Amino acid sequence: MSSAENKSFYLTTPIYYVNDAPHIGHAYTTVAGDVLTRWHRQRGESVWFLTGTDEHGQKVMNTAAQNGVSPQDWCDRLVEAEWKPNWSHLNIANDDFIRTTEPRHMVRVQAFMQDLKDKGFIYSGKYEGPYCIGCEEFKLPGDLIEGSCRIHSRPVEMVSEENWFFKLSEFVPALIERYRSNPGACEPESARNEVLAFLEGGVSDLSISRSTFDWGIPVPWDTNQVIYVWFDALLNYATAVGLMDDPNSQGGKKFANTWPADVHLVGKDILRFHAVIWPAMLMAAGLDVPRKVFAHGWLLVGGEKMSKSKLTGIAPKDITDHFGVDAFRYYFLRAIPFGTDGSFSWEDMSARYTSELANDFGNLASRLTAMIEKYCGGVIPAVSDGAGLVEYLEKTVPAADAAICALDFQGGINAIMDFCKRVNGYVTEQEPWVLAKDPANKAALDAVLYNTAESIRALAVLLHSVMPATTEILWASLGADVTLGPIGEQTIAKVAEWGQLPAGSKVTKGAVLFPRLEEKAL
Ligand code: ME8
Ligand code: MG
Repeated sequence: MSSAENKSFYLTTPIYYVNDAPHIGHAYTTVAGDVLTRWHRQRGESVWFLTGTDEHGQKVMNTAAQNGVSPQDWCDRLVEAEWKPNWSHLNIANDDFIRTTEPRHMVRVQAFMQDLKDKGFIYSGKYEGPYCIGCEEFKLPGDLIEGSCRIHSRPVEMVSEENWFFKLSEFVPALIERYRSNPGACEPESARNEVLAFLEGGVSDLSISRSTFDWGIPVPWDTNQVIYVWFDALLNYATAVGLMDDPNSQGGKKFANTWPADVHLVGKDILRFHAVIWPAMLMAAGLDVPRKVFAHGWLLVGGEKMSKSKLTGIAPKDITDHFGVDAFRYYFLRAIPFGTDGSFSWEDMSARYTSELANDFGNLASRLTAMIEKYCGGVIPAVSDGAGLVEYLEKTVPAADAAICALDFQGGINAIMDFCKRVNGYVTEQEPWVLAKDPANKAALDAVLYNTAESIRALAVLLHSVMPATTEILWASLGADVTLGPIGEQTIAKVAEWGQLPAGSKVTKGAVLFPRLEEKAL
């Protein structure tokens, strides 16, 4: 399946277990995916952004039973009451949302599994060993500490069943070759090294079915068994875009111009599933493997991975109620190098909110609109040459673009915020409020205000993917929605072109973008 010329930039998040509501760890991945895909859209690319939920397996089944409802009812309830509302609250612009209990997924999973069987990559055998329901993973004795999974700190169950096996071990040499020769296939480098070491240590075949419970997709040729939840779940990335459909059908065409995925964004907890099992499944089927698996670090609480099972999960709303949605989206990508672990701290978030968002960015915007109202009758003055700001902006844009495309969100945001600081410095140096005292300085005053307004125009576009709602308000207050069109349609390629805000367009003093924080007792 060669990539079509108009192939979309295709990015996925993990599909999350619906045993509970999302916490900020899930939001971290999903926001990162949203920022990256919004940025690529602003690069003028066709983009496809997928997220969804992982609904089969023992973990979800047990949670439903504990709550006295059927697994399907439990999933329906959680997806509608928690997952989808959280993503819309966080302004996530996903193109599709896949649930593994949907028929469109289940029929394609069965077709794929049958195809691997027909190709000779599946055989029956006996599985015996420990299984962690928290991870939904077959473990090796060395993975355990005193009989417990080291991630979930809970006892594993012993499994002894006749299962169907996938010949995973056959693909180890090809996988090693791929990661050795293609560093971009698994990032950051620490993740690639971990995967290579794991592969070089030897990998056995994988049990891909279970017979002792029934919450899953039936194995097509043996309906006493359900498909292993990870085999089912990984396929979502391909089933959602038409895997196995007739090439001339709508699904087949979608697959041709979407597959392979450009980036699977995952947390490092699920790196091996994505960098070992998943590409091996695709290789067995003769399909292209994903171009990149990027494993980011963990949000930590008390030095440990924040998690639902350890009751350390913080809900996104606990933070957005205080700081707002856009500050939430900004903070985690700005504060933690993508790929490294980071601790959430209320104090650090408050400090950045105040200094970077309220002072550097928000105040710049409100000072400018207030001065244009006061000194220019609320309209943009004559186009001016930009003083030294144009050159700074011309360097900022490619730096931000390169960083964000490389998933260095922190580097990208820093480049943009450095420009913001430069503009603040410019306003401070030029002292427009002093110029305004003498009508003889009118031309100089207009030039300062135009240059500042035009810089803020660029900042709004550059920060739009990170803070879509705030930048939209700012855009409207510059009158740019009327004069330049929707902010989401402003391209990165054109953002440094100077002189876009037309003289005479109406500026309104908008709402305060980042209001002063109320004191909050912890
Ligand atoms: O693993 N820090 O689902 P899951 C950062 N259903 N990211 C975190 C995090 C934390 N403390 N906690 C969770 C599954 N995440 C499977 C995936 S994909 C085919 C199937 C994020 O609900 C991070 O992206 O346990 C992590 O990989 C994912 O949520 C795990 O979500
Ligand atoms: Mg998990």
